[in-house]
Amino acid sequence: CGIVGFIGQEDAKEILLKGLEKLEYRGYDSAGIALQSAEGIAVFKEKGRIANLREIVDPAVEAHIGIGHTRWATHGVPSKANSHPHQSTSKRFTLVHNGVIENYELLKNAHLQGVTFLSETDTEIIVQLVEKYVNEGLAVEEAFRTTLTLLHGSYALAMLDSENEGTIYVAKNKSPLLVGAGDNFNVVASDAMAMLQVTNQFIELMDKEMVLVTDSSITIKNYAGEVVERAPYTAELDASDIEKGTYPHFMLKEIDEQPLVIRNIIAKYRNEEGEIELSQDIRDAILASDRIYIIAAGTSYHAGLIGKQFIERFAKIPVEVHVASEFSYNMPLLSENPFFIYISQSGETADSRAVLVQTNEMGYKALTITNVPGSTLSREADYTLLLHAGPEIAVASTKAYTAQLAVLAILSADIAYSKGLEIGFDLTQELGIIASAMEALCGDKEEMEQIAREYLATTRNCFFIGRSLDFYVGLEGALKLKEISYIQAEGFAGGELKHGTIALIENGTPVIALATQEYVNLGIRGNVKEVVARGANPCIISMEGLEMEGDRYVLPAVNEALTPLVSVIPLQLISYYAALHRECDVDKPRNLAKSVTVE
Ligand code: G6P
Repeated sequence: CGIVGFIGQEDAKEILLKGLEKLEYRGYDSAGIALQSAEGIAVFKEKGRIANLREIVDPAVEAHIGIGHTRWATHGVPSKANSHPHQSTSKRFTLVHNGVIENYELLKNAHLQGVTFLSETDTEIIVQLVEKYVNEGLAVEEAFRTTLTLLHGSYALAMLDSENEGTIYVAKNKSPLLVGAGDNFNVVASDAMAMLQVTNQFIELMDKEMVLVTDSSITIKNYAGEVVERAPYTAELDASDIEKGTYPHFMLKEIDEQPLVIRNIIAKYRNEEGEIELSQDIRDAILASDRIYIIAAGTSYHAGLIGKQFIERFAKIPVEVHVASEFSYNMPLLSENPFFIYISQSGETADSRAVLVQTNEMGYKALTITNVPGSTLSREADYTLLLHAGPEIAVASTKAYTAQLAVLAILSADIAYSKGLEIGFDLTQELGIIASAMEALCGDKEEMEQIAREYLATTRNCFFIGRSLDFYVGLEGALKLKEISYIQAEGFAGGELKHGTIALIENGTPVIALATQEYVNLGIRGNVKEVVARGANPCIISMEGLEMEGDRYVLPAVNEALTPLVSVIPLQLISYYAALHRECDVDKPRNLAKSVTVE
C-alpha cells in the first residue's frame, strides 16, 4: 500500500491523485482520498485502480488539505468498504494506513467493545481508538499518541480531524514514510516519487515517530512527546525517469534499458585506473567474515542464487541464500563470523527488513544491494551498493535483476582480487560484451514475439529447465511468466524433473530449456529428450558455440560464468509477449504489488 497527504493553498485533489498514481506500484486493489475543507471532510473511495477513483471524485469539491491511499489487500477482501480512508463512528477522524496492526483483534476486544465497525480492516481500530480517547477528554495529539503506543505492527499513518482544519497527524513504524517540505505547503508520502511533482525536499521519519504537519510547519516528536529536529534532504530523482515515453509499457522500456544500466554500473564501480573497486570498508567487512548469508524475496532471491555462484566461484567464501520470509523460523546455525547481504530492488520489502532488524540486533554486519538510495534497507544496513538502474516501475522486475547480477559479479571479483585470487577474465570488458549482447537481443523482439505466440499463446502450463546457472535463470523465467501472463510455470533443475514433475508433461506441453554452459550441455539435452519422448514441445535456447540442430534460439556468446545476464533477456521478452497475447495487464498484474511493505 501507499499513502499521500497534502496541506497548503492549492487544490489538494489533483496533487493527491497524481501522487497516488505514482504509488500504484505498491498495490492497486482499491484507492481512496479524503478532502478537508470548511464544509467538512469528503471521502471518495473505489475498488481497483486510481483511474477508477478519479472517475468518482467530485470535481466541485475544493480542498487545501487531504490524504490518500492505494491498497494492496491484507485484512479483508478488495472492496469499497475495506478501502481507505477509514473514519471513526462520528466521522470526526479520517485515516489512511499502510502496514499491518498485529494486535488489532486484541485491541478491539480490550478497548472498543460496543463500537460498530464498518470494515474488516485492522486499520479501523486506530481511528476508533483515537475517537475513544478524545471522547474521554484527551486532546487530539494526546489521543493520537496514546493510540500509537498501543499498536503492535507496522504502520505509516496520516489522519485528519474534521474539527481542526490545519493539521495532518502522521506516524510511522516499520512502514516507509517521508514528509516533504515546500513553500507554504507540506506533503506526506510513502515514497518521494509520489510528491516529486511539487517538491524534492524530504525529511525521513524514523520508527515510532509522529509528526504534526501544517502548511507552514513540520513538527516531529517521539512517543515520549519530545521534539526531534531533522533537516530535509534533496531527492535526486528525475521525474522524467518515471514516465513511459513512447513505450506501450514500462516493462518493455525497462527491458530495453538493460544494456544502458550495465554500462552505467561499470562506470559507477570503476576507479580512475579503470579497475573495479568497492569501498574499503565493505571489502574489510566481507573479508572478516567466514560465511555470507544472502536474504531476499522474489526476483531478488533469484538474483541471490546466482550471486552465491559468483561469490563462491570467484571470492571463495561460502554463501547461503535464504528466502526472507522463512529465515526467522528456519534460521540456520550461523557461522562464527557471518556477513549478511540483503538484495532488494525497492529496499522496502517488509519480509527482508524484518530479518535485517533481527540481524542488526544480533550485532552482525550487513550490506544492502538496492536500487533505491535512502530506502529503509539501505538506511538500516551498515553498507549499501546501489544498482544505478533508474526507477523500475513495472511490477515484474527486469532491469533490477540484471543490475543485481552485475553488482554481485563486481562484488565477487573485488573480493577475489583483494584476496589475491584470479578470476580468469577482465570483468569490465566481459560486462561490456554482455551489454552489447543484451542490445542485440533487445533488437530481436519480432523473434521473441514469434516464440511467445508459438509456445505460449494458448498453453495452460510451461516448464523451464536448465542445469547449473541455467537452472536459476529458469526459476526467474518461470516467475516472470507466471507474474504477468498467469500461465502456470515452473523452473526445474534439468535432472530433477524426472523425479516427479515429469508426470505433468502432456502432448504439446512447452518446455523451455536453457543450454548456455558447456559442461552441462549434453546433460540438459538428455533431459530435453526425456520430455520430448513424453510429448513435450521443446524450445531450446542455447548459446553460440554450443548450439545444435533444432535449437529454437541461439544467444550471442558471452563469458560462460556470466551467461545469466544475457539468457534471462529472451525469457523476459517471451513473458512480455505471452502476456500481451493473452491480453493481460503487463505492468500491473493482478494480485501483485511492486513493493510489498507488509510481512
Ligand atoms: C514483490 C514484487 C516482486 C519482487 C519482490 C521483492 O513481490 O512483486 O517482483 O521481486 O517483491 O522485491 P524487492 O524490492 O525486495 O526486490
